[in-house]
Amino acid sequence: MSRLSPAGRKALLTVHLVTSLGWLGADLVLLTLGVAGLRGADPEVVYPTAGLLVTWLFAPLSVAVWLIGVISALLTPWGLLRWRWVLVKFAITTVMLGLVLLALTPRVRELGALGADASPHLRADLVVAPAVSTTLLLVATVLSTYKPWGRLRRATAPAARQAVPAGRRA
Ligand code: HEM
Repeated sequence: MSRLSPAGRKALLTVHLVTSLGWLGADLVLLTLGVAGLRGADPEVVYPTAGLLVTWLFAPLSVAVWLIGVISALLTPWGLLRWRWVLVKFAITTVMLGLVLLALTPRVRELGALGADASPHLRADLVVAPAVSTTLLLVATVLSTYKPWGRLRRATAPAARQAVPAGRRA
């Protein structure tokens, strides 16, 4: 059962869309900075900018997207463990959150501090990591709109199925 009024649900969905697709946008900016760095743009400008972006936008957004995504699932009839498309998105976002906080953020901050002294390997990381994460976020977006693969288990009551609008059922 949904625990939100229709207006509350729309507001939560709006916040979910702004944060998750904002995260995708920030990821594309990181990728652009990484490509610019490899193509010879000033490393004293590009890499500190990437460090700032990761610290103040990308990493905070990754936490916000995870939290608001989980809240969106738990407070709507979709549930967190009921539909495969939600579960796969949850898995993608959880893996990404771990990688962003434990691997990407420290490395990009190191890159920002090193600037022109950064190794080619570290510079390449700023292309490979955002390319992978952008792909994962595009997959999450497509899963959200197509909602494939149906339910994980049967509804316990007919009301549980009716709670999801017909056009949104798998
Ligand atoms: C913890 C991770 C996530 C969970 C549990 C989650 C869950 C959900 C749920 C339950 C809805 C339906 C909300 C409603 O009907 O009111 C939704 C909608 C949506 N989500 Fe997520 N989400 C997560 C992450 C993401 C990410 C990373 C993206 C994309 C980058 C994304 C993109 C969308 C989009 C575009 C919709 C709108 C679909 C529609 O209204 O037809 N979500 N999400």
